[in-house]
Amino acid sequence: MASDLRLFLQEFRQTYRTTGAIAPSGKALSRALARFVRPPAGATAPRRILEVGPGTGAVTCALIAELDPRDSLDLVELNDRFAERIRERMANDPAFQPAKARMRLFHQSVDALPDEPRYDVIVSGLPLNNFAVADVRHLLDVMLGRLAIGGVMSFFEYVCIRGMKAVVSGREERERLRGIAATMQQLLDEREIHRDLVWTNLPPAWVHHVRRKA
Ligand SMILES: C[S@@+](CC[C@H](N)C(=O)[O-])C[C@H]1O[C@@H](n2cnc3c(N)ncnc32)[C@H](O)[C@@H]1O
Repeated sequence: MASDLRLFLQEFRQTYRTTGAIAPSGKALSRALARFVRPPAGATAPRRILEVGPGTGAVTCALIAELDPRDSLDLVELNDRFAERIRERMANDPAFQPAKARMRLFHQSVDALPDEPRYDVIVSGLPLNNFAVADVRHLLDVMLGRLAIGGVMSFFEYVCIRGMKAVVSGREERERLRGIAATMQQLLDEREIHRDLVWTNLPPAWVHHVRRKA
């Protein structure tokens, strides 16, 4: 929607660090992020899903399309304008209505969420490459800590983004990017169960899926 694109551009200019993207995620990226929200064959129990940083709700639509009718979906969004947009969509958007009664919006930072409930799937849109290394570690720990044992967290990063940023950055920024790369690599080495390469997104993106073992 044109108004969502305008809102993204505005927030990209005003809150670059936490918005981290110039436009909402495209359909292919949204579908890849929803891979583990699709109920597994033979699933019997209701599941709890959390989306971190829904923005204008592009990925949320893909998650709703995959939800089992018994599943619930929590959204946690830090930004005032994005939270307002999600509230509007929950009230009026036909795409949100099938899950409306099973959705909750938390207008706060993900690290202020209560410890319970634990989630079966967490889908994160956080722009981790914009944060300090200590914040990236903290936010990843928080999200993994909110997963049930065996639960899956899915998140994305743009292809080659750290390398491209590093080329045009000074020493301090290059060190920060190296720290994030090392943090991510450790997480992926220990826990990654699947990855999707989404060439058709602008820019192309990797979607990582990691499982909490214990
Ligand atoms: C790159 S945008 C992704 C938006 C949407 N998921 C999409 O893909 O179109 C990042 C989103 O994370 C939100 N965000 C950033 N830091 C956050 C935090 N600590 N807690 C919750 N949301 C946060 C931003 O406000 C923004 O909505």
